[in-house]
Amino acid sequence: MSAVRPAPEHAAPAGTPAVPSFAVIPGDEVKNVLEGREKAVVEVVEATYRLHGAGRTVNPPSYFLRFPDRPSSRIIALPASLGGENQVDGLKWISSFPANVESGIPRASAVLILNDPGTGYPYACLESSIISAVRTAASAAAAADRLSSGRPRPTRLGFVGAGLIARYIHTYLEGTGWSFDAVGVHDLSTDSAAGFRTYLEQSGAAGRVTVHGSAEELIRNSDLIVFATVADRPHIDEPSWFRHNPVVLHVSLRDLAPQVLLSAANVVDDVDHCLRAATSPALTEDLTGNRDFLLGTLDDVMAGRVTVPADRPVVFSPFGLGVLDLAVGKFVYEEVARSGELRIIDNFFHELRRHG
Ligand SMILES: NC(=O)c1ccc[n+]([C@@H]2O[C@H](COP(=O)([O-])OP(=O)(O)OC[C@H]3O[C@@H](n4cnc5c(N)ncnc54)[C@H](O)[C@@H]3O)[C@@H](O)[C@H]2O)c1
Repeated sequence: MSAVRPAPEHAAPAGTPAVPSFAVIPGDEVKNVLEGREKAVVEVVEATYRLHGAGRTVNPPSYFLRFPDRPSSRIIALPASLGGENQVDGLKWISSFPANVESGIPRASAVLILNDPGTGYPYACLESSIISAVRTAASAAAAADRLSSGRPRPTRLGFVGAGLIARYIHTYLEGTGWSFDAVGVHDLSTDSAAGFRTYLEQSGAAGRVTVHGSAEELIRNSDLIVFATVADRPHIDEPSWFRHNPVVLHVSLRDLAPQVLLSAANVVDDVDHCLRAATSPALTEDLTGNRDFLLGTLDDVMAGRVTVPADRPVVFSPFGLGVLDLAVGKFVYEEVARSGELRIIDNFFHELRRHG
């Protein structure tokens, strides 16, 4: 690796199109760029939803690599292309190995590749577990704000599933101006619940923290509810628990039974993406044979094309779009490049003359 260089260099022979240099951005640099930038990242994510809604992105279905001998694990490829001012193509490649948690390391690990839209050359590889968590949390914070605008602002936050994503969502809610009188936690693992409680108490701004022994108790006592479990099938099937019309951020996508979704106003990030891979919305479509239970997308809400009813629970189920990773990854790349700290890998692309 070369010494830190101020800006990308181009290593093409004279007379040939410029080949971008290749940079590696490790997790500590990603974290340094993103820490404390919650409002800016939410703006990036909302702008990307708007671009996606306007048809100026390409976001094919994610590809799930699964293993017969390791059925709980998977690696997902999310290719995507972003148009507009920050044009970029690329791929997120993200592993989910839930057994990692027992060994004390995070479930998910990821890299993000950015490709130059002019030449197709990859020009950066970024550590992406942080980018992935941040774009998920920014999307949840945007949805909390947009979906609660026509009802009393929630003051009691509840988390079902208390892992890394829950922590990032809490950080993003606080970083975008939310404060809560009470925060509830429910997790099947007492260690996870206790660890998250400690994090909340140390964060200093969490209000009263309660660990609930059941999901029912947590749901009934919260008006903004985050599902961030690793459940692979619905375990919440009682619509009456949501009678107080909470805003529900169904980030883990497979917790709620169809009868719960059928009693709610349902908002997704992208209809075609969300109605696949055995998500709760996909199960609801299978059950009803139609998509009538969907109110629309978050972009529809932002654009005012749909109005969220205040007299029903509202459930946001975000499939998680590769274009969000690209947009946040590009934001990180630009910031690191601007600071002059890009780590360029010398001669990464070596074969630059077709005929030698
Ligand atoms: N939609 C998106 O864009 C998006 C993006 C990133 C992650 N995710 C999802 O978010 C979820 C959480 O990710 P993470 O990295 O925080 O995982 P994690 O493993 O760190 O934490 C998950 C927690 O959920 C708990 N849990 C599992 N089943 C439960 C249940 N039925 N009730 C209560 N708690 C339960 C586990 O004990 C664990 O503490 C995953 O499902 C992941 O796929 C979604």
